[in-house]
Amino acid sequence: MDRRAIPLIAGNWKLFKGPGEAVAFCSALAVRLEGLAGVAAVVCPPYVSLGAASAALSGSPVRVFAQNAHWQETGAFTGEISPVMLLEAGAVGTIVGHSERRQHFGDTDDTVARRAAHALETGLDVIACVGELEAEREAGRTGEVLRRQVGALAAALGPNERLTLAYEPVWAIGTGRTATPEQAQEAHALIRGLLDVPILYGGSVKPDNAAELLSQPDVDGALVGGASLEVESFAAICDAVAGG
Ligand code: 13P
Repeated sequence: MDRRAIPLIAGNWKLFKGPGEAVAFCSALAVRLEGLAGVAAVVCPPYVSLGAASAALSGSPVRVFAQNAHWQETGAFTGEISPVMLLEAGAVGTIVGHSERRQHFGDTDDTVARRAAHALETGLDVIACVGELEAEREAGRTGEVLRRQVGALAAALGPNERLTLAYEPVWAIGTGRTATPEQAQEAHALIRGLLDVPILYGGSVKPDNAAELLSQPDVDGALVGGASLEVESFAAICDAVAGG
C-alpha cells in the first residue's frame, strides 16, 4: 500500500487556457519542475487544450487529465466527450463529479459513478470529487452527505488502483476559506473508511498551506484550482509537498 508514498498535485484549470496558453504554460512548467522528485504532478486543461498540453509535456513526468468524461463511448450526446476520445487526445486520466458539474450541469451521484466506471474501464485514471455545501456543514450533515456521495461510488466501483477521490468542501472552493487541517483530516478519515483509495484535498490550496494540509495522515495530495493557473504558484505547491 503506497498511496501516501508520493503526493499527487493536480491542477484543475476549469474554464481557463485555450491551446496557445496551454502550450506556453506547459512548456514553462516542464522546465520549472525538471528534476523534481517525490511528487506526481497533473494538469487538467479544458478539452480543446488537451492535445496541445500533452504535446508540450511529452518527455516530462507531468501528466494530463481531462475535467470530465461521458459514460458511453459514442452516441447522441451533444457536447459530451468519451474516455476513448480523451485517450486519443493525449489525456491519461480525468476528473469526474466536480461540484461545479454537480451544481451547474446536473451531475448526480448516479451519473458521476457511471462516468467514473466507464473511464476506469477504458483505461483512464480517475479523480472523483465529493464534498458538502456550506449549508450542509452548518446543519451538521457533512458526514451524511459524504456517506451518500462516496457510497454511490463505492457501490459502482470498489477499490481500483487507478481511482483517486478528492474531498472538496464546496464552501472552500475559490473562496480563500481553506478547510483547517483538522477538518480535512476528519472528512478524509470518514471517506477512507468507505473507500480505501488515495484522497486529495481541494479548496483554496495555496503554496503556503499545502504542506500543512498534506501533513495530515489521510490527505494524500491536492486538487488545486486558482493557484494552478500560474506556473510559479503551481510549482511552489509541488515544491512544498515533495518528499513530505
Ligand atoms: P480553488 O483552489 O480555486 O479553491 O479551486 C478548488 C477546485 O475546485 C479544484 O477542483
